[in-house]
Amino acid sequence: MANARLYPFWADLTSALRTGEPQNEIRHSGEPMFDTLYADPARLEQFTDAMTGVSMANFEAFAARFDFTRFKTMADIGGATGQLSCIVARHHPHLAFSTCDLPVVQPIAERRIRAAGLAGRIEAVPLDFLTEEFPKADLITMGMILHDWNLEQKKRLIAKAWRALPEGGALVAIENVIDDARRTNAFGLLMSLNMLIEFGDAFDFTGADFTGWCLEAGFSRCEILSLAGPASAAIAYK
Ligand SMILES: C[S@@+](CC[C@H](N)C(=O)[O-])C[C@H]1O[C@@H](n2cnc3c(N)ncnc32)[C@H](O)[C@@H]1O
Repeated sequence: MANARLYPFWADLTSALRTGEPQNEIRHSGEPMFDTLYADPARLEQFTDAMTGVSMANFEAFAARFDFTRFKTMADIGGATGQLSCIVARHHPHLAFSTCDLPVVQPIAERRIRAAGLAGRIEAVPLDFLTEEFPKADLITMGMILHDWNLEQKKRLIAKAWRALPEGGALVAIENVIDDARRTNAFGLLMSLNMLIEFGDAFDFTGADFTGWCLEAGFSRCEILSLAGPASAAIAYK
């Protein structure tokens, strides 16, 4: 994905910085990014495969470091191939999972879950998270989802997570969370520029940003758990 898609778009970074407009496939179409990308099955699979590579080490670290003992159900929102659910399922046999993504992605997730031998524990659920409520679960995860959206949409997704969780439940956002001073996590800052190129008004965020939005939505406390390299799990408890 970096070679085939993103590299040429970064040539227009100056234009993105001057205009605040996306510089990818949607530059001239004005259509929503995922509708455009997913209209071509080859590009859809290229994107979900690329996300599998980008996220694997973070998901393994999350499965190893987060305390899952008091949670029984997990819903992964924007779960793509179902990779996060598969990895956590292998480490934590007491949990049941829903991996939720757009209907066009569901068959890909079902195929990967079957291949992993986890069809009995992970359900691939078709969900448009912009228009629908999230399924109820003790733990709601979102891997690199919030950074794809503008501030208003980020807050709407956090509010949906809050409504789907019981008291004591948790929202986990796995992202390249930027340090609060915006000085050390260069990869997170670069990823934020990548979101400018991909979406225009989307951006990566600091732990303090996440905490502020979650407390405003009604969560009681937040913490940041460091994962692989520049990535962290930003966690909000209801
Ligand atoms: C950046 S990828 C992250 C994939 C995966 N969570 C990870 O971290 O590797 C964003 C995901 O959000 C999904 N997505 C985008 N818009 C969506 C929507 N409206 N409803 C549900 N899923 C959506 C995409 O299909 C894609 O799988």
